[in-house]
Parts: sequence; structure tokens; C-alpha cells
Amino acid sequence: MESVLHTRPALKKELDRAAEVAGYLWQRGWAERNGGNLTIRITEYVDDVLRTRPALCAPQPIGIRLPNLKGCWFYCKGTGKRMRDLARDPMSAGSIIRITEDCAHYEIVADSPVMPTSELPSHLSLQDYLIGSGSNYKATLHTHPIELVAMSHAREFLDSERLTRLLWAMIPETLAFAPLGIGVVPYALPSSVELASATLEMIKRYDVVLWEKHGTVAVGPDIMEAFDQTDVLNKAAILYKTAKQFGFTPEGLTPEAVGEIRDVFHLPSERRG
Ligand code: 13P
Ligand code: ZN
Repeated sequence: MESVLHTRPALKKELDRAAEVAGYLWQRGWAERNGGNLTIRITEYVDDVLRTRPALCAPQPIGIRLPNLKGCWFYCKGTGKRMRDLARDPMSAGSIIRITEDCAHYEIVADSPVMPTSELPSHLSLQDYLIGSGSNYKATLHTHPIELVAMSHAREFLDSERLTRLLWAMIPETLAFAPLGIGVVPYALPSSVELASATLEMIKRYDVVLWEKHGTVAVGPDIMEAFDQTDVLNKAAILYKTAKQFGFTPEGLTPEAVGEIRDVFHLPSERRG
């Protein structure tokens, strides 16, 4: 059967961007095997033909009830699917789902019955929060950035304020583009509802969430911006690592320099998007 993307150029453009990001994730070594996942809210691209399409499977439980998701549609990476395959063909490595009337189940609608990512509770909890807070953000990204995950193995970096200050001090752009910093969520079982609710609490206060010994979660108006936020913070982690490899602990920007950047560029100290 023909892909739903063939007759919907705006939707295709959105998923082309997901494919581009998936390629970057693979190139950076952040997406081994099926590592990482993403969702994009695509409700605005759903026309009457797509809306009336029969489901490809019985309704599946999300694991939580998310009232703001009533009538919402998403593109999700499939569970067990590779980012490097998504980079070539988003519909072979993911699917389009709609949330059912009870806001606690989803149905797969297109192109084929690829089961969504196992981290769906986290992704959809964030999507529910973003809608509820009036945000225009539509994309959520979970990936395994090497340096940030490595840092999350050290007890000293599991303190969100401390880790944020250290990363901001590495290069001015970190503060400029991640002014809320990074919030650490203690280790929890991948795909669990506990991990989803801890992530939700952290994303209200920080740009990016770091899952201890696992990966990151970021949100954005589109998937490219969610990627950029992760990339900016991981770049700071790489700078820290590189200085350590040179044999010294980096001096870091002074607190005064960091404060000046915040003032001059009028950086927000709470979430606006
Ligand atoms: P999925 O293949 O189910 O998306 O899982 C990948 C992953 O990174 C889990 O945290
Ligand atoms: Zn993961």
C-alpha cells in the first residue's frame, strides 16, 4: 500500500527532518543498535482521509491516562528499530499512531503495524505536559550521548545544579542555548512509568533531562531543535572530557562571566516554550 507520506508533503517534510536528525544521532555514536527514540506531534497534518483510516491493530494501553492527548496524532520511532534505518526511511522504522477517546490507549494507523518505542510513556507524558502548558513544542527526543551518559556514572555529577554549572562554564554558548540547564533523573527501569513521571517533573525546570547511566531526553518546537539542545550540552561535556584528557581540570568561565551572559542576552530562568 502507498505510504501516507506520498500525498502529504507537509507531513513528509516533518519526517524528513526526523530522518536528518536520526542520521546525526547514528553518526555521533549516540544510537547504537535500536538506541534512542523520538516522537513528533503531527495532528495538524491529519486530513479527513487519514482521520477515517481504520486502525492496523487493537487499541494498546499507554500505561497512563493523558487527558491533553485527546484527538492527538504522533509519529513514533518503532521499538527495536534503528535510527540509521529511520534516517533512510522513517516509515520503515516507525509508525503513525492516534490516541483513543479514553486518552489511555493508542492505535497504529500507518503505514504498517510497527509497534511504537518502549519509551512511549515518557514521550507521551511530555507531550501531554507541553499541550497542557500551551507550548508550541511538538517534538521529544531520547538518545544516548556518550559523554553525558559517562558523566552520569559519577556521583558528583548526579546533582543537577552542580552538573549544570559545570557545563555552562565550558563555553558561553551552552548557557545561551540551554539557559535552564540539565536535570538529572536517578536511575529507573527503561520504559517504566516511574521513569516517565520523574522525567516529566524535571523537564518542567530544565532544558534537557539526563537519565542516570542511560541517556537524555529533550523537547523542542521541532525535532532538530530537540537535537540541538542535547548537542549543545554534550559539546560542553566533550570539552570537559578533553581538558581532563590533556591532563588538567578545566578552569571554566567564572560565575561573573556566566552571570553577564545571562543578563546581556536576557536569558530565561524558567521554561517558556
Ligand atoms: P526502543 O527501541 O523501544 O525505542 O528503545 C530504545 C531505547 O533507547 C530505550 O531506552
Ligand atoms: Zn535508551
